[in-house]
Amino acid sequence: EETPMELGGEQGRWEEERLKTASLSFGAKKEREQGMRHEQEKYQLILEEDEMINFVSTAITMKGTRSEKDQEAPALSQAELKKQSMQEVRRSLPIFPYREDLLAAIHEHQILVIEGETGSGKTTQIPQYLLEDGYTKGGMKIGCTQPRRVAAMSVAARVAEEMSVKLGNEVGYSIRFEDCTSERTVLKYMTDGMLLREFLTEPDLASYSVIIIDEAHERTLHTDILFGLIKDIARFRPDLKVLVASATLDTERFSCFFDDAPVFRIPGRRFPVDIFYTKAPEADYLEACVVSVLQIHVTQSPGDILVFLTGQEEIEACCELLQERCRRLGSKIAELLVLPIYANLPSDMQAKIFNPTPPGARKVVVATNIAETSLTIDGIIYVIDPGFCKQKSYNARTGMESLIVTPCSRASANQRAGRAGRVAAGKCFRLYTAWAFKHEMEETTVPEIQRTNLGNVVLLLKSINDLIHFDFMDPPPHETLVLALEQLYALGALNHLGELTKLGRRMAELPVDPMLSKMILASEYKCSEEVLTIAAMLSVNNSIFYRPKDKVVHADNARMNFVVPGGDHLVLLNVYTQAITAGYFYHTARLSKGGYKTVKHQQTVYVHPNSSLFEEQPRWLIYHELVFTTKEFMRQVIEIESSWLLEVAPHYYKSKELEDSSSKKMPRKQGKTKEELG
Ligand code: CDP
Ligand code: MG
Repeated sequence: EETPMELGGEQGRWEEERLKTASLSFGAKKEREQGMRHEQEKYQLILEEDEMINFVSTAITMKGTRSEKDQEAPALSQAELKKQSMQEVRRSLPIFPYREDLLAAIHEHQILVIEGETGSGKTTQIPQYLLEDGYTKGGMKIGCTQPRRVAAMSVAARVAEEMSVKLGNEVGYSIRFEDCTSERTVLKYMTDGMLLREFLTEPDLASYSVIIIDEAHERTLHTDILFGLIKDIARFRPDLKVLVASATLDTERFSCFFDDAPVFRIPGRRFPVDIFYTKAPEADYLEACVVSVLQIHVTQSPGDILVFLTGQEEIEACCELLQERCRRLGSKIAELLVLPIYANLPSDMQAKIFNPTPPGARKVVVATNIAETSLTIDGIIYVIDPGFCKQKSYNARTGMESLIVTPCSRASANQRAGRAGRVAAGKCFRLYTAWAFKHEMEETTVPEIQRTNLGNVVLLLKSINDLIHFDFMDPPPHETLVLALEQLYALGALNHLGELTKLGRRMAELPVDPMLSKMILASEYKCSEEVLTIAAMLSVNNSIFYRPKDKVVHADNARMNFVVPGGDHLVLLNVYTQAITAGYFYHTARLSKGGYKTVKHQQTVYVHPNSSLFEEQPRWLIYHELVFTTKEFMRQVIEIESSWLLEVAPHYYKSKELEDSSSKKMPRKQGKTKEELG
């Protein structure tokens, strides 16, 4: 009866389910049962009909792999799960029946690709199996990389709990700027970037018996670099075991890259997930998310909801909207717990998403794509997927990095949908049309290495490996590499032969971008303390100024109180502006008609409205980064004198380029320079 349906290469996992009778909201049978019907009607009184999201009533089922018998068994409730001991939970994971086979395969092969559904136990169990099998004898370590800081921390905490040890002792984690390990640590979870840095001090990773490159399918920049480095050292360290763990994506490519390493598949135990599409594109996906959550909350049987949004701002806005509407609806609806999760969320808040939902209530977790594969939240039955993610892209010619909300890939969309089928049959509501899924989304995400600035990584590779012969799984664009080399040369990290200089070596040791490390090193003995403070402030992912939606005026006033003349870096701290110039002379812009032009590339750019120099418009300035959001914005800018550029980088700037460089500020509003007049 069921005919396979092609949906953009879904590897036959998709099947069209028989057409379901149209109903106002969700087409599944259950809602039409009386009780639900009643609730639905009540709900329609609460929500105007045109406020409802109109999902296509043809459900497409993403087939689960549980047996019929399994499917009928009710999902374990949170309370029951709690009652079971940790060890029992461990034994209930899909990976457990394959423990012996897996250990045998690892014993037999040096490099093994491990494929398994998210939540099957790869990250938390494999390192423990290896430990139990003696791989940490003689103080050897097992390292497991994660692309995300949050995942490294939460998984390490979970494993420490399972092993009844204190986090930081036998089990620890290491992420940039935070090392929670000790001499006793044998299971070490870390971000991929941290393992990369360990190559600097231990080029053959001699203290490790096993390296697990986890979440390999994410193809982050650092993971891609690790592939090449580890493939290389595996040749002269036959005792080192290398495990490449991935969700069910792309495993053939990994196997191929690692000289046809065998793939160990852990069969999933997923329940089927019904997929719903909207009939027409949604104009405002944030609003559509909010409405869908409420729609599910009122019309659907118990089970928690997971919403995928693109970033902190959106997540906060969505949570606020949900809370506000729940307040308005009051006792007309059951309790809805609204919980955000994103990388910069304080860790105590992050931990909240794992707490079991109290009886009678429903939990909605509003997440970035961190919840796509790195984190598993038990109890999710419904997924809402607007189909977007925030993606970095980089234009080497202009040096412009953009962070733009773009449609996610079909692979991502399927991962997201899969999150609904872990504990019971689930539903995924896609806030886009079936047509868009098929025609507008890319098959897979372009690996980060092909769309990012490589300055940092090239410097690191220069100091640990031979860049020319580096074995990239997917090579970065030539232009990006050239620009990175040019920049490193300009900073003095490479000499004219392209060899690493002493300065370059020292720069590589600092886990920050080359310009920042140059700035720090150049400050030595003069103003290091101040510069270090600024460097630290600049390294915070987001702005240090928190600007909640409902307190915009307050927040802006508070920020204004910090403002000192001179620029954003001085707002962070009042320092000697020249130290910054030494590192960032590369990022200069001069005032010209209608905005600024970068000195080297003549690219038109603008001061970010959040900058303290937004009004001021100094003649010359240095920017920390160039980001495209709605316009080409320079973020964190500081005023300089053009003569300083010649002082710190005579090899880079010719005085001709800096002509017309009166060190005075351009008289504002009165008179125009030659340049401005044309
Ligand atoms: O790595 P993989 O996605 O295969 O699974 P995992 O991260 O090892 O998680 C296995 C199971 O451990 C999950 O299904 C959760 O039930 C549980 N877990 C948890 O409860 N809390 C965590 N922080 C991590 C995992
Ligand atoms: Mg995992």
